[in-house]
Amino acid sequence: MGLTTALAFAHQGVHVVGYDIRSDLLGQLRQGRSPVFERGLAGLLRRERRSGRFGTVDSWEALAAKTQVIFLCLPTPRGSGGRIDLGPMLRGASELGRALRTARGYRLVVVKSTVVPGTSEDVLRPALEKASHRDSGTLDVAANPEFLAEGSMVRDAVAPERVVIGVNSARAEQWLRRIYRNFGAPIVVLSPSGAELVKYSANAFLALKVGFANEMSRLAEMLGVNVDHAMDAVGLDSRIGGRFLSAGPGFGGSCFEKDVRALLARGRELGVDLRLIRAVLAANDDQTAHATDLIRQAVSDLNGKTVAVLGLSFKAGTDDVRESRAFPIVRELAAEGAKVRLHDPVALENFRKAWTSDPQRQGLPVSFCRTVEEALQRADAAVLQAAWPKYVRWPPRWSRLMRTPLVVDLRRALDPSVRRRAGLRWVGLGVGTPARARRGYVRGSVRTSSAARNSSSGASGRVRT
Ligand code: UDX
Repeated sequence: MGLTTALAFAHQGVHVVGYDIRSDLLGQLRQGRSPVFERGLAGLLRRERRSGRFGTVDSWEALAAKTQVIFLCLPTPRGSGGRIDLGPMLRGASELGRALRTARGYRLVVVKSTVVPGTSEDVLRPALEKASHRDSGTLDVAANPEFLAEGSMVRDAVAPERVVIGVNSARAEQWLRRIYRNFGAPIVVLSPSGAELVKYSANAFLALKVGFANEMSRLAEMLGVNVDHAMDAVGLDSRIGGRFLSAGPGFGGSCFEKDVRALLARGRELGVDLRLIRAVLAANDDQTAHATDLIRQAVSDLNGKTVAVLGLSFKAGTDDVRESRAFPIVRELAAEGAKVRLHDPVALENFRKAWTSDPQRQGLPVSFCRTVEEALQRADAAVLQAAWPKYVRWPPRWSRLMRTPLVVDLRRALDPSVRRRAGLRWVGLGVGTPARARRGYVRGSVRTSSAARNSSSGASGRVRT
């Protein structure tokens, strides 16, 4: 996030120097190598190094001396009780503060990281003032959240839909307006807490929206409807909008779950019960359980079967596996005796590292395959967890490698013509077939998969038909 933000500023004509406490990362950047897989980032890095607008420094002191405005893009990992861990932010603030003691003149420190409402003002500003021996005469602290999604970070950073700044001085506002003047995006000016609230509201709302489509997918299956057809029509209402209504195995990624938990925790601290937001996480787990049920039903008995899981990142277009729904799905399949073969075009190594670091997963029958062909060899089914373009093209020879050419498509990514040509039996999450719809209507009621799992009486979770 920090690198993308820095390069986007450089791209828009701002001179940027970057600093990181990881010297290996600085070394990589100096060689022009992007440290992460992200579309367009390596090219932008090369271009902006050539333009002379992006460089790096080796110390906080050099950073403090050479810059007027300093964006803190430090991590805010999950802490206890759903809260974010402010440790890295506070360490960064105090290191920067110390370096600012010897620097001359006014400085603006801008918090880019995702921090819960109130943090910049109540926690980071005092920490920076204390460490720097400065006050509001020579130091301002502002909030300026980012809205970058992995896979489209460069586009999101270079051409944002809006810029949200949280300031409490005219001087800080002027600086930020200057920095963003070439971006061509509307600039919304709020207090620091207001800007921080925008970030959490946006992510909670998006998580809610995905969760809504996910719930509708379960209804659609029972009704013999394709959820995409319904959601496309729903999204045509401009009050709703068509994006983020694509049902899947549940949302993953480093932001949604962490941010929803942190918002709930902040609500609790402030005595506000966010009932709607609270439901998002449970509904997300229900959806993953439902996706697993779908695979279970399609394969019938998992024990002894070979299942290929294709796509291990939390969505296509990234090598990030944090909170990927592939973890609970693979664990469940393997625990039920399936031999699980894993493949991803870029995230295989990250998944392997994360998978093997958890002792509870040791001994489960999973294998990591370098090619799709290896994963599909004599498989009883394939599960499409992330819709990489490579999978979506599905050449007929892939079907011939399988014992049974069955695909459980958790993203409805395979086109009917591709499926036909490849002779696939296809089960799409959120796509009702007349047979599935009929199965659901038992004695006038439908049991949702998660309710069936969670309730012994079966009384809850029944949907009258
Ligand atoms: C998100 C926000 O989009 C971004 O603005 C914020 O800055 C960080 O968090 P990111 O986590 O990178 O970005 O990915 P996003 O595209 O939002 O997807 C999150 C999860 O939701 C993925 O697992 C994705 O597969 C899922 N999703 C998204 C769906 O299942 N259906 C959708 O329609 C959209």
